[in-house]
Amino acid sequence: MGKLDEKVAVITGAARGIGRADAILFAREGAAVLVSDIDAGPLEEVVKEIRGAGGKAEACPGDVTKPEDCQKMMDMAAERFGKLDILVNNAGLTRDALIHKMTDAQWDICVDISLKGTFNCIRAASKYMMKEAHNGRIINVASVAGLMGNIGQINYAAAKSGLIGLTKTVAREWGRFGITCNVVAYGFVDTRLTREKETQQEVVAGEPVGIPKKVRDMVLLQVKPMSPEDAAKPVLFLASDDAAFITGQVLNVSAGMYM
Ligand SMILES: NC(=O)c1ccc[n+]([C@@H]2O[C@H](COP(=O)([O-])OP(=O)(O)OC[C@H]3O[C@@H](n4cnc5c(N)ncnc54)[C@H](O)[C@@H]3O)[C@@H](O)[C@H]2O)c1
Repeated sequence: MGKLDEKVAVITGAARGIGRADAILFAREGAAVLVSDIDAGPLEEVVKEIRGAGGKAEACPGDVTKPEDCQKMMDMAAERFGKLDILVNNAGLTRDALIHKMTDAQWDICVDISLKGTFNCIRAASKYMMKEAHNGRIINVASVAGLMGNIGQINYAAAKSGLIGLTKTVAREWGRFGITCNVVAYGFVDTRLTREKETQQEVVAGEPVGIPKKVRDMVLLQVKPMSPEDAAKPVLFLASDDAAFITGQVLNVSAGMYM
């Protein structure tokens, strides 16, 4: 028996990294998953992998900054799988710069994806979730940067911190439907966002992603890095029945990076 048998989940930013690991784990635990991402190619691969292992998955490519794309994701999940139980707002992007050098574009893209994108998805899901005894689950993905601040990440820290107020508001407004809404705040997870900027050479939306080797080495002196698969497990917990009475909380999953 899986922990998410009969459940239907939508996961954003699921083409790679943590979102992909969430989707594979959820499907293994019995959920039907609607995966979404701005990158359609690798998203299709995730669906193939899940179906190849006997799981249920559908892809709905989309950009979380566009409300109409978010509505399409939720509508498609309900159409294909009959309902919507779990929403994981995982899409995110870093766009680092010191305060005095940060451009409007860097600020906007980061806040639009992490904060507005999460709001867009939750509002789009309301049609399916605001029902008596719905027992839904919403998990928003933040970062320890939102709890402690981080040099070079004023945009990201503000957006991730904003998710906490957003989450507590959802928890209060929708608690009466049995819906829980929580935040997972990660520390260091090994994905393209945390690999060496100098050697990775991955450009996303016009700028390289990753972190400078010097900063990366300093963090790794203090904490054990998580794999995306390690990072997915607390999300599964919050999505499961075990967490039915946990809501409006920030779960710090940082291997001690912040405590
Ligand atoms: N990696 C870490 O150490 C770390 C730490 C703290 C928080 N996080 C958060 O975890 C989440 C997942 O990050 P990751 O490390 O797996 O990074 P990742 O880059 O591997 O995955 C993020 C996914 O989001 C997608 N995405 C970006 N913009 C989008 C948009 N506008 N619409 C839809 N999808 C979009 C990307 O295409 C990508 O597939 C993010 O919210 C990130 O901020 C990561």
